Amino acid sequence: MTDLHVVILAAGKGTRMKSGRPKVLHELAGSTLIDHVLDTAAALGAKSTVLVVGHEAELVRQSLSARPGLDFVIQSPQLGTGHALLQTAALLESKPGTVLLLYADVPLLQSNTLVRLLEQHTNQRAAATILTVEAPDPDGYGRIVRDHSGAVVRIVEDRDASVAERAIHEINSGIYALDLPPLFDALRSLATDNAQGEYYLTDLVALYHHQQLTIDTLCFENPEELRGVNTRVDLAELGRALLDRKRRSLMLGGVTLEDPSTTYVEAGVLVGEDTIIGPGVRLTGRTSIGARCRIHAGSRITSSTLGDDVTVLDHCVVVESAVEAHASIGPFAHLRPGSDVGAQARVGNFVELKKTRLGPRSKANHLAYLGDATIGADVNIGAGVITCNYDGVQKHHTLIDDGVFIGSDSQLIAPVTIGKEAYVGAGSSITENVPPGGLAVARARQTNKEGWAASRRRAHQKKD
Ligand code: UD1
Ligand code: CA
Repeated sequence: MTDLHVVILAAGKGTRMKSGRPKVLHELAGSTLIDHVLDTAAALGAKSTVLVVGHEAELVRQSLSARPGLDFVIQSPQLGTGHALLQTAALLESKPGTVLLLYADVPLLQSNTLVRLLEQHTNQRAAATILTVEAPDPDGYGRIVRDHSGAVVRIVEDRDASVAERAIHEINSGIYALDLPPLFDALRSLATDNAQGEYYLTDLVALYHHQQLTIDTLCFENPEELRGVNTRVDLAELGRALLDRKRRSLMLGGVTLEDPSTTYVEAGVLVGEDTIIGPGVRLTGRTSIGARCRIHAGSRITSSTLGDDVTVLDHCVVVESAVEAHASIGPFAHLRPGSDVGAQARVGNFVELKKTRLGPRSKANHLAYLGDATIGADVNIGAGVITCNYDGVQKHHTLIDDGVFIGSDSQLIAPVTIGKEAYVGAGSSITENVPPGGLAVARARQTNKEGWAASRRRAHQKKD
C-alpha cells in the first residue's frame, strides 16, 4: 500500500444552514459533522490528515483541539473545490502516495467504503478513482459523462449541464482517490470558465482524460451513505439515519430495544448481550454497558460504565460515573460525575451522589444527598441523610467505614469520619468523628408535656 494522505474540505460557509456557526460544527447524533468524517477517516491509517478550513477557521480548529495529528490549511477566499485542494500543495506536493479527498459534510460515509475505493484505485493503477453513485434524484450534483466505450470523459456540474447531461443519473459523490505526482500540476492549470466562476476540482477529470491518464470509478450501491448536509432538514434526516444504523447494530449484537425509535444511542456507546433497554432511554458519549442489564424508561446515561446485571429503574440521570455488577439504581436517581456504586449496592429514589463511592452491598434507598464521600461495604444510609460537604467556601470529605448504620434524616457535617460498624441515631447532626463500633446521637432530647394541648386551648378561650 502506498502512503495515504486524507484531505478534508471544510472551508465553505454552508449558506443554506442559515447559521452563525460554520456548517461543519453543526451536530447530529451527538457529534459534529467534521467529527463524524474524522472518525471514519481515522480507521484508514493515513500518513497525514489535512483539513482545508476557511469560514470561521479558528472556531473549527478550536473544536478539534483534542485531536492530535491534524494539519490545517487556510483557504481564503474560497474560490472552489479545485482551489481548496490546491492549498494543500505546501504540505503534500513533494510527497509520494495517494490523496483521499473527502468533504466534511458527508457524515454517513463508512470506512469500509473508503477502503474499497482505495483498494480499487491501487489495483487499477489509476491516476484518479471517483466514487460515483446512481442517484434516483441527481439534481444539484455533478454528472459523470462517459464516451461510447464507457470511459469517463469529464464531470459536468449541474449548473453547467445540457439537458441531455442532466438526464444522466450517475453522479459525482465528490470523494476521490488521487495519485499525488500528477495532481498539483493539473490543479494549477484549472480555469474558472463555468457558471459559478470557480476552480472546479471536477475539471481535473477532463484534463486527465486529455492527458490519457487512467480515470476509474467505483459505482457505489447505496446513495444514502453519500448524502451531504446542506440544510437543517438534511441534518435531521441524516442524524436519524446515523441513529438507525447504531440501533440496528445493537439489536443485531444481542441487545433488546423495547421501542427502538425512541432510543437515542450515540456511536461510541457499547452495550453487552441480553441487555434490555426501555423507551426514551438516552445513551451518550463514551458509555459502556455490561451484559444482562435492564435500563428502564426515560433514563440518560452519559460517559459512564455499567457492569453486568445492573438495573437502572425509570428516569435516572447518570453522568461520568460507574455502577458495578448487580447494583440497582433509581427510580429518579442522579449520579453526578465521579460517582461509583459498588457491586450489589442499591441507590433508591431521589438519591443524588456526587464524587462519591458507595461500597459493595451498601444501600441508600430514599431521598439522600451523598457528596464527596467514601462509603464502605454493607453500609445502610437511612432516608433523608445528607452529607453537608460545602461550607460556603470549600468542599469537605466524609468517610463512612464498613458496616455503618446512619439513621434517617441525619446530617453529616464534613469533614467527618464514621468508624467501622458504628451507628448514628436518626435525626442527628454529626459534627465530630464517631469511633468504630460506637453510637452517636446528636439531637435534642425529647421532652413530653402532658396535657399541654388542653391547657393551650383554655388559655385561648380566656382571651376571646
Ligand atoms: C461538489 C462537486 C459535485 C458533486 C458534489 C457532491 C465540484 C465543483 N462539484 O459540488 O460534482 O456532485 O460536490 O456533493 O467539486 N469547499 C471548500 N472551498 C471552496 C468550495 C468548497 O472547502 O472554495 C468545500 C465545502 O465546504 C464542501 C465541499 O468543498 O465541504 C463541497 O463544496 P460545495 O460547494 O458544496 O460543492 P457542490 O456544489 O456540492
Ligand atoms: Ca455540497
